[in-house]
Amino acid sequence: MAVNKFTNEWKHTMRCGEPRAADEGKPVVLNGWLRARRDLGGIIFIELWDYTGVTQVVFNPEEVPDAHARAKDLRSEYVLSVRGALRRRPDGTQNPALDTGEVELMVSDFILLSPSALPPFDPDDADNVNEDLRMKYRYIDLRRAGMQKNLRLRHRASQYTRNYFDEKGFLEIETPIFTKSTPEGARDYLVPSRVNPGEFYALPQSPQIYKQILMIGGCDKYIQIAKCFRDEDLRADRQPEFTQIDVEMSFITEEDIMSLIEPYLIGLFKETTGADIASPIPRLTWKEAMESYGSDKPDMRIDMRITDLSDIFAGGENPFAALIADGGVVKGLRLPGGGGMSRKETADLEARAKELGSAGMANFQIKDGALKGPLVKFLGTDAISSLVQKSGLTSEDILFVMADAKWTKACEMLGQIRLEVARARGLVTEGWKFLWVTEFPLYEWDDAEHRWYPVHHPFTAPLDVDAPYMKTDPGRVRSRAYDIVLNGTELGGGSIRIHNPDTQREVFDALGISPEVAKNRFGFLLDALSFGTPPHGGIAIGLDRLVMLICGAKSIRDVMAFPKNQKAQCPLSGAPAHVDENQLEQLYILSTAPDDQ
Ligand code: AMO
Repeated sequence: MAVNKFTNEWKHTMRCGEPRAADEGKPVVLNGWLRARRDLGGIIFIELWDYTGVTQVVFNPEEVPDAHARAKDLRSEYVLSVRGALRRRPDGTQNPALDTGEVELMVSDFILLSPSALPPFDPDDADNVNEDLRMKYRYIDLRRAGMQKNLRLRHRASQYTRNYFDEKGFLEIETPIFTKSTPEGARDYLVPSRVNPGEFYALPQSPQIYKQILMIGGCDKYIQIAKCFRDEDLRADRQPEFTQIDVEMSFITEEDIMSLIEPYLIGLFKETTGADIASPIPRLTWKEAMESYGSDKPDMRIDMRITDLSDIFAGGENPFAALIADGGVVKGLRLPGGGGMSRKETADLEARAKELGSAGMANFQIKDGALKGPLVKFLGTDAISSLVQKSGLTSEDILFVMADAKWTKACEMLGQIRLEVARARGLVTEGWKFLWVTEFPLYEWDDAEHRWYPVHHPFTAPLDVDAPYMKTDPGRVRSRAYDIVLNGTELGGGSIRIHNPDTQREVFDALGISPEVAKNRFGFLLDALSFGTPPHGGIAIGLDRLVMLICGAKSIRDVMAFPKNQKAQCPLSGAPAHVDENQLEQLYILSTAPDDQ
């Protein structure tokens, strides 16, 4: 079938999603992709798609024998320009599922603009298609309402962001992509420099150091919708390259960041979802979040809290007494409406707790007015009544109890059970629950490597009251870091920074970074800090995660035009790929991959 030239008279006069009953009789030209095709009693119906929607197009052999004859050769995803008049669909044939469902276009003529090879899948069925295949043929995957909606919401979110910060006097400043390593806890992507043999740029894990240097440079209010690159294990909410809404300000405290970000998020959600989010956004310290929800990013849609039951099991003859005497803890989680859970269900949950690393998970229920459970026999009357009182257990509920030598581990394991049980039993309410988590520990101990790591990054300031313990008791030092959490997802994080070079050196020292290494890796920052640094701080919000939640998508891949798969590959382009030997030689890099050696 001949492909025609695209000339002005074949240019669309309406978009495929626009025709309505009121347009009856209008002559129109539509441009788009052929979606479904049906031949019914000689009449050919097709759906013509563009990003605005679909319109039913009718080829009637009686009225347009020539166009009808040619239409027999049209296949899925062919690109057409179709001319004709809109008419109301006959009664009984309207399609209420479509915005255009009351009308159809009666073709007078059409041209083929581009044929299509047999598509590997029907875009309308893409939800049931292997994701790698969708990524390989991303252009087909993009030709569907879901992806179009997500990309458009992403655009709205970016525009809203730029306007919001612009109105507040922020400057969008681009920072380099070829840079030196910025430690955000992942591995770097490295780029060899041909003109500097044996030397590498690192792609930024975030613009962290540059934005701090901008503050030293007097730029005061910085924003960037910034690309970041991290070589880390991928998950549904992680990509090797992703986008941050990156913000930094001078002469501020935590309150300034929070009172900048809260109205931003509330306004953005109003604009994109219509939701009214209550202000102020609640806050918990990291300690409180862990203690009550077993997570540093609690899902506040779940109305279940963890309670500490250690004092009830302290002393006496019960199996946890020795563990508590050694500094261990016992934690309880009441599952509302969980009373009457079968033995099999509790056994399955206990098996899950063991998978998470627990020695076991006991349970208590109230039956016939009495507390029941394998551990009841170890508890006296007083202990029983305080257990019931503390946990709030009723005859409707079940109480799970876990003990561990380590507070963090006990909280985290029960926090995970909280999430899983709530999801399985439909206890996660609808809506948006934001939360600030503050006062994270400055450092965490890595057992395997036997050293301290920064919980946020090494430029985060300690809380003033804890600063004296930086050397003597690093584990107890809290930081001026904060995270913004939405429905159990960490949306963003930031901190007030260290602006004194001596404190910065002290932190490097505590992290086991020798003065030589610090000078080599971060010397430029340490130098800059000594030239008049304003107190400053900031935050970065993951744009992909933000849009994923707004769109209700399951993965950030669904809100990116060209994401990588779980193996950090781009199935569309085939990246990463082998390169020519001579390219490697020019870059002074060995040409053999480890497997080939
Ligand atoms: P942080 O490392 O917490 O902070 O990152 C901020 C936010 O970026 C998003 N994010 C990611 N999104 C997708 N894929 C990834 N691999 C990925 N990694 C992080 C998350 C996260 O909350 N420079 C500091 C910010 C600061 O201190 O101002 C930083 O990058 O939503």
